[in-house]
Amino acid sequence: MAKSTTSFVCQECGYDTVQYMGKCPECGLWNTFKEFKTQNSKLKIGESNTSVRHASDIIPKTLDKISYQAKDRQLTGFSELDVVLGGGIVAGSVILLAGDPGVGKSTLLLQAALNISDKGKTVLYVSAEESLEQIKLRSLRIAKTKPTKNFLVLSISDTDSVVSIIAQTKPDLVIIDSIQTMESENVAGLAGSMGQVRYSAAQFIKTAKTLKIPIIMIGHVTKDGMVAGPMVLSHMVDAVLFLEGDKFSATRVLRSLKNRFGPVDEVGVFLMEEKGIEEIKSPEQIFLTKQQEESLPGSVLIVTLEGSRAFLVEIQALVNFTKMPMPRRVASGIDSRRLELLLAVLQKHAQIPTSGLDVFVNVAGGLKIQDPASDLGICLAIYSSFKNIPMSKTVGIAEVGLLGELRAAPMLEKRIKEARKLGFKDIITSANFKTLNQAFMSVK
Ligand code: TYD
Ligand code: MG
Repeated sequence: MAKSTTSFVCQECGYDTVQYMGKCPECGLWNTFKEFKTQNSKLKIGESNTSVRHASDIIPKTLDKISYQAKDRQLTGFSELDVVLGGGIVAGSVILLAGDPGVGKSTLLLQAALNISDKGKTVLYVSAEESLEQIKLRSLRIAKTKPTKNFLVLSISDTDSVVSIIAQTKPDLVIIDSIQTMESENVAGLAGSMGQVRYSAAQFIKTAKTLKIPIIMIGHVTKDGMVAGPMVLSHMVDAVLFLEGDKFSATRVLRSLKNRFGPVDEVGVFLMEEKGIEEIKSPEQIFLTKQQEESLPGSVLIVTLEGSRAFLVEIQALVNFTKMPMPRRVASGIDSRRLELLLAVLQKHAQIPTSGLDVFVNVAGGLKIQDPASDLGICLAIYSSFKNIPMSKTVGIAEVGLLGELRAAPMLEKRIKEARKLGFKDIITSANFKTLNQAFMSVK
């Protein structure tokens, strides 16, 4: 008979303990522990019994005796997704795809699943969120080819049934949409609660490892950017991908935050279209606006680094003398505190009267930039708008320090190469100028 135990789990970081605590020793937050019951039942998948191991598995091996083959990976039909995964989906791996509701997670995975089934592989798409008709409707909307016989769809939310169906059908890939809507009678609590999510995820992970079937789970994100409740999930799975993008732009950026089988911080760029999601192999297509040729003041280019990729992005600034006691600062796509800091540096070290200016800064294409090497580009765009000097073919790559000095950006060579490749020659970096002032003099 399965034994049930009680445990307390921090809702923020997933720290697990047998007794209640007011403050989490892991993340330091108060009143985050929730109680739930788990059953120590042994999962039986098909015929296999995980508790019986062959003796050869228990004997430690010397490292030189272990043979290694490059893991065979399934390609998804999206090279952008494959790159983020580190070269496709590894057999038996468990991937969490997280993102805001409505960002396009189901669309991306449905499309990838259709691509994979097109190549003769069996895919099981489990949706607890949408009915079979809804999935059919979506597939009709996006499918460039007709859905094949290999594409199996299931619309249930019972974790245990899904696990046994996976064991019976043994598909080549399973997609769970979404992990928060899966539930089991073995655990107390409603779907989406900590205990349910942990239980379901653990069952799917066990299934994936035992049967060597890759499983991709979709997870929604709460307001504070955590994968709802279960940040625990990110410790349990092999890879965590984030799909980002806002409602008002079609750009979607896929990032890997964790990947046991590939690089982290890798990005893929997509565009949400009327007929599904489309990959963008050269991001300049969307991050540079067409007005580059006309050259209006207030626009400057930067080269931002995302994972191993460098790409050009246009920064736009608009600067006006303010009519308010408190000038307005609006930043979209960059951190507003970073903008405040740069404005203070511009006032102090470049004698630009920013305290009397309304400043608006925007990153074209809806991208969010955290790269400090974009500092110089932002300053140049503000300068360009303030002085009415068109600089839209100028590329700025440097971090700006509090003393108005330019600091070297990491991987500078790679960034410069990318800018040159696209035909830009006016590249301002910390290598040719030491201070912000010198950089401004050069464009006068
Ligand atoms: P969806 O994949 O359902 O998001 P998620 O699973 O992350 O919640 O995408 C929902 C949005 O995408 C919805 O607002 C409609 C839009 N959409 C398109 O623009 N084009 C399409 O082809 C599809 C299927 C959806
Ligand atoms: Mg969805």
